[in-house]
Formats: sequence, structure tokens, C-alpha cells
Amino acid sequence: MPPCLSCHGPGAEGGGNYPRLAGQHAQYVLKQLNSFQNNMRDVAIMHGVAQGLKLAEMRAVAAYVQAQP
Ligand code: HEC
Repeated sequence: MPPCLSCHGPGAEGGGNYPRLAGQHAQYVLKQLNSFQNNMRDVAIMHGVAQGLKLAEMRAVAAYVQAQP
């Protein structure tokens, strides 16, 4: 699984085709990751990423991006 920062940027600031995650609400991020995982939100690239994540990891990363400036 490629780390989030390789696409979303080291501070989750986004850029190009990659959405900014920094400061995004943890609840929203968690929901999106779930949606990517079960293909409710059909994005192949993020499905591949989310597939490898456990719920605890999704929570942790969601809390992390929310804390970014
Ligand atoms: C290979 C590149 C890549 C990697 C690695 C990647 N992402 Fe993404 N991510 C994307 C792209 C592209 C989108 C935009 C999808 C779309 O068009 O809807 C996206 C969208 C998202 C969204 C939805 C943003 C929004 O505003 O709706 C979240 C949340 C997200 N990524 C979190 C993560 C997390 C957390 C990781 C690491 C576990 C990660 N991504 C790793 C490419 C990547």
C-alpha cells in the first residue's frame, strides 16, 4: 500500500489531482475511507489504498489529517 503522503502530500495539503485532506473533519475522512473500501464511492485508486486499512488505522489517519494545519 503506498503511503497517503505520496499522493496527498507530506502535510496532506493535496495538489494536482489529489484532494487536500489537511484540516478535513475526521468524521468525514473516516466515512470516505469506508466508502472507498466498500466501493460506495467508486474510485479504483483509493479503493486499492483503503482495502488494506483496518478500522483502527482509518480512525488514526482521520484524526491525523484533521490535526494538520
Ligand atoms: C496513489 C495515490 C493515492 C494514495 C496513495 C492515497 N490517495 Fe487518497 N485520493 C487519491 C485520489 C486521486 C483521490 C480523489 C478521488 C476522487 O476523484 O474522488 C483521493 C481521495 C481521498 C479522500 C477523499 C477526499 C475528499 O475530499 O472527499 C480521502 C479521505 C483520502 N483520499 C484519504 C487517503 C488516505 C488516508 C490515504 C492513505 C491511507 C490515501 N488517501 C492515499 C489518491 C491517493
